[in-house]
Amino acid sequence: MTNRRDFLKVCTVPPLLTAIPRLATAKAEEALRLTATKTTKRLVPGAEYLESPVWAFNRTVPGPELRLKKGDTLSIDFINELDEGSSIHWHGIRNINAMDGVAGLTQPEVAPNGQFRYQFSLNDAGTYWYHSHAKTWSQVARGLYGPLIVEDESDPAVDHDIVLMIDDWLLANDATIDEASFGSLHDWTHGGRLGNWLTVNGKSRPTFEVSKNSRVRLRLINAANARIFGLNIPASAFLVTQDGYPVPVQETQDVILGPAQRADFIIDLADNDVSINETYNGDQPYPAAILKVVDTPSKLVAKRPLSQPALEAPPKSIDVAIPLHMQGGAMGNLREANYRGELRPIRELAQDHKKAWAFNGRIAEHHDHLAAVSLGQSVSIEVWNDSRWPHAMHLHGHHFWIQKEDGSFVDGKRDTYLFQRGEKANLVFIADNPGFWLFHCHMLEHHAAGMGAVIRVS
Ligand code: C2O
Ligand code: CU
Repeated sequence: MTNRRDFLKVCTVPPLLTAIPRLATAKAEEALRLTATKTTKRLVPGAEYLESPVWAFNRTVPGPELRLKKGDTLSIDFINELDEGSSIHWHGIRNINAMDGVAGLTQPEVAPNGQFRYQFSLNDAGTYWYHSHAKTWSQVARGLYGPLIVEDESDPAVDHDIVLMIDDWLLANDATIDEASFGSLHDWTHGGRLGNWLTVNGKSRPTFEVSKNSRVRLRLINAANARIFGLNIPASAFLVTQDGYPVPVQETQDVILGPAQRADFIIDLADNDVSINETYNGDQPYPAAILKVVDTPSKLVAKRPLSQPALEAPPKSIDVAIPLHMQGGAMGNLREANYRGELRPIRELAQDHKKAWAFNGRIAEHHDHLAAVSLGQSVSIEVWNDSRWPHAMHLHGHHFWIQKEDGSFVDGKRDTYLFQRGEKANLVFIADNPGFWLFHCHMLEHHAAGMGAVIRVS
């Protein structure tokens, strides 16, 4: 990490992780409550540090783990106890548009003391998450997120199913949230808000007790505003899904996760502890969480070989191509862009409007549509990342295939794809979900500074 020294400075022995309260075990049809409120949370252990003031769902960071079954209906009463508007987006869920939770696009923001009922059925199994979708660059950074797990009968049997929600916080020396840097133009035009304190499920280096020789499903979620994580699992580990969607089962110990991306592993443990290491930032692996092996008398599941999933093939032809030239940011080649009907120089955009990124020479707002496509059409967003920064591009309401520049397709579908600087790739999807769908960078400062657009499907 750029701030690895600070990172390590405050590291002590990890506290034992207490399980995240699970909310969604009640009858699926019964409405559950998620209340956004201000609270404090001990992010940094040690009496010399304060509890950090966070914004949280049900006073926990992450918010409660919602765990349901494929086909269930999720009913949530969202209550906003913040003093600004908010909303909840269900990231990766192919939702009905009115329940997608994008403030200002699919619903008005939920006002302070207001409430809103989210109700929709869960048609895809996998690892998803929920987060605020109003002023996300601030609200998500302050802790308004949680895991949403959809189980399926065909999931491989495991002894332990563990969610690791990874975040980096930008903290001041006393462990309060660094307030002064919110909205920093530097962050918005560079790599976004990068933190100096890593947490997994809101704790520093948590430990999870697992049985000796057990089979574990590990669900990794990158909840950071802008940080890319590389996770290394030194064990017999098999990658089974990415962004909730099955991928060819592959034995590997490493995965890179851009903001908002997820990866699920099945791990067959032996009798030694396993440290889950962060390897993308900094020059030495950083132990982010520990699977601590304990002797338990319980009977373990049979470790059947994992079967390969049947993957949906991408469409043979494309009905609508949407060229998308992404430019901007520091050291970029964007000189001017159209914003609110006028061509404006980049300096004015940055200083007066805090905009720094453009799609096709334009900085769009929710009412400007990048494209309008008809229901059922096959669509290809032909992205060219003509900037000096990576971007984690996320499409709402659909999952897409990724077609690389040489024409080949990546196996499986995703909801977020991490573009490297200069990369060109097509994001191909079937527009089978009517509504107004946001397509944006999940480096949340980039989105705030212009990297977003709406695709209308009707
Ligand atoms: Cu994770 Cu627009 O969302
Ligand atoms: Cu970006």
